[in-house]
Amino acid sequence: MRSPVFDVRLDERAAAEALRADVRVGLTDVPRWISPTWLYDSRGSELFDEITQLPEYYPTRAERAVLRRAAPEIAVSARANTLVELGSGSADKTRLLLDAMTALGDLRRYVPVDISMSALRQSSTEIAADYPELDVHGVLGDFTRELGPLPAEGSRLVAFLGGTVGNLDPDQRRLFYRTVRSHLRTGEWLLVGADLVKDPATLLRAYDDPAGVTAEFDRNVLRVLNRELDGDFDVDAFEHVARWDPQEEWIEMRLRARRPLRVRLGALDLTLDLAGGEEIRTEISAKFRPERVRSELADVGFAVNAEWTDPEHGFTVFLAAAT
Ligand code: AVJ
Repeated sequence: MRSPVFDVRLDERAAAEALRADVRVGLTDVPRWISPTWLYDSRGSELFDEITQLPEYYPTRAERAVLRRAAPEIAVSARANTLVELGSGSADKTRLLLDAMTALGDLRRYVPVDISMSALRQSSTEIAADYPELDVHGVLGDFTRELGPLPAEGSRLVAFLGGTVGNLDPDQRRLFYRTVRSHLRTGEWLLVGADLVKDPATLLRAYDDPAGVTAEFDRNVLRVLNRELDGDFDVDAFEHVARWDPQEEWIEMRLRARRPLRVRLGALDLTLDLAGGEEIRTEISAKFRPERVRSELADVGFAVNAEWTDPEHGFTVFLAAAT
């Protein structure tokens, strides 16, 4: 086996600066928000993994069922020698793609990109051990800010799985798709997993589970801010709220202050006064209609070549070629 190689695109100073700038803007905005990027410290990544095991959280299982069926076809269409995965996390479902692509004899390189060094190190090490022929090149970075450079040789497939595209609002999404497209040559590939619009009750259960794992995941972002920004959020003074926005067709996760609170963020020299009941938005999780995904991709130079849906849960994986 070859040891995985790591590339740190997010030096600690830049990451700390990005966090400070982002939190200052978001927490002084009306209404207040925190970017979902900061949910994924090592504890947050662990909690997200726990979410994926919950009976109410269907997207992970649905996508796995889709990939089990579609991976061989994806591999045959793409004939890629490099798999780049954005927001790779535990890279669990990725193995279905790795299996199909290595079975064809095409795959040489796996490039997982993630914001969590702990998740990246663990998944890269495990995959390097289980796929000894593969070069595993982990990239620590925030793919919403900077993507490149990608390995240039051969033909590449960029995978963006798990419905993470739902974390982006329409403007961010367009910018993101555009950026990915700008890194690819005509004929290279993008694979996107997207959760579909469905019955709000099903969605709300998935984002506000009775065991409270999602609530813990959500509140954990306040611990991140306390630790990284010298903050004094009383984490227990916030409750987790999930809302379905029928106009935007997205789920919002919010943290609601149970009582009026004064919060100090020393590293920002910032004091916030939150009203009782005031909410901070921590994530959007947009749900999609397939025709919209196709047209948004077409707008920036991708043609959807094939798509597979889990009919039980309404989750689709789109394979698009750069045109
Ligand atoms: C990792 C962004 C795909 O939006 O479903 C899960 C994150 N948040 N439960 C999602 C999440 C609350 C998840 N993504």
